Amino acid sequence: MIWKTKLTEMMGTKYPIIMGAFAIIGKAEFAAAFSNAGGFGIVTAINFRTNEEFQSELEKMNTLTDKPWGVNFSVMPPYVVKDKQKGSWVRDEDSYLEFVDIAIDAGVKVCTTSAYQAPKIGKKLHDAGCYWFHKCATMKHAISAESLGVDAATIVGLEGTGFKNPNQNTTLVNVTMAKKLLKIPIIAAGGIGDARGFLAALAMGADAVCFGTAIMTTKESLASNIWKKRIINQDIFDKDYYKKIYHLQLRDSPVHSMAAGHCDEILSMKEFIEEKIIKKAEDILRSWGFGSNEVNTTSV
Ligand SMILES: Cc1cc2nc3c(=O)[nH]c(=O)nc-3n(C[C@H](O)[C@H](O)[C@H](O)COP(=O)(O)O)c2cc1C
Repeated sequence: MIWKTKLTEMMGTKYPIIMGAFAIIGKAEFAAAFSNAGGFGIVTAINFRTNEEFQSELEKMNTLTDKPWGVNFSVMPPYVVKDKQKGSWVRDEDSYLEFVDIAIDAGVKVCTTSAYQAPKIGKKLHDAGCYWFHKCATMKHAISAESLGVDAATIVGLEGTGFKNPNQNTTLVNVTMAKKLLKIPIIAAGGIGDARGFLAALAMGADAVCFGTAIMTTKESLASNIWKKRIINQDIFDKDYYKKIYHLQLRDSPVHSMAAGHCDEILSMKEFIEEKIIKKAEDILRSWGFGSNEVNTTSV
């Protein structure tokens, strides 16, 4: 089937699928595998310290894939920048501005920002004719991002991982409300790890789906084997784990999300995207009587 949404057109991808940003493991080999399997791979800029290191990673990306890919700039909220002992991963917006030029020079056409507002990065991207996607945890922030001019908004549901917000809603509430309240395309994130979740997100109004935890157990993921096994063996109904995810006890540590419930084995990225997500979604659509060879959500 052909999959066509506003975001496959903006990203230039085969499927309406975008990779999450990843501290520690969001590097070229992982991102290129995602792009090569038909999604939009993301290199996470927070993992690089110097301009040279970042530039050489982007050059590596261009050797590993000829498919579209982008860069994430995770901008730390002021309370993190202020409170944490300044480590290399604590980055404010200004610290990324030279990296943005490097990404543009490397030919990147879409960048994502996350965690905190990033209007200067957005302006640089727009001045260069690139798209600016922003990821946030609440509708309030998504509405504010739209008013700042972002081209698409990712809203992460409470089932997901990353920075948690006390006013965060579930993926279902986020996506259906975003469809109602925003004009820009929407990316659903949070707890999605199988074909049913993927299809449901599109049905709720998303123009693409972001996978974080679910791809950490792929062969090409740069997570250690111990980390992958921990995710596969995660009992998502365990009381303490449940509290971490839903009762804001996660803080800012990178814990895998409720999508771990769908991580049963180590698959190649191609098997994950093409078989576990896309082929199964197509099988479900056909079992419902869908007869077309094209899924096209661009007019709804
Ligand atoms: C190990 C790990 C590291 C992450 N690092 C970042 C990060 O640096 N910046 C960011 O914006 N999101 C980060 N995220 C969040 C993901 O980009 C994505 O929004 C989230 O995983 C989506 O929820 P899901 O895991 O349920 O799919 C991270 C997630 C994980 C699991």
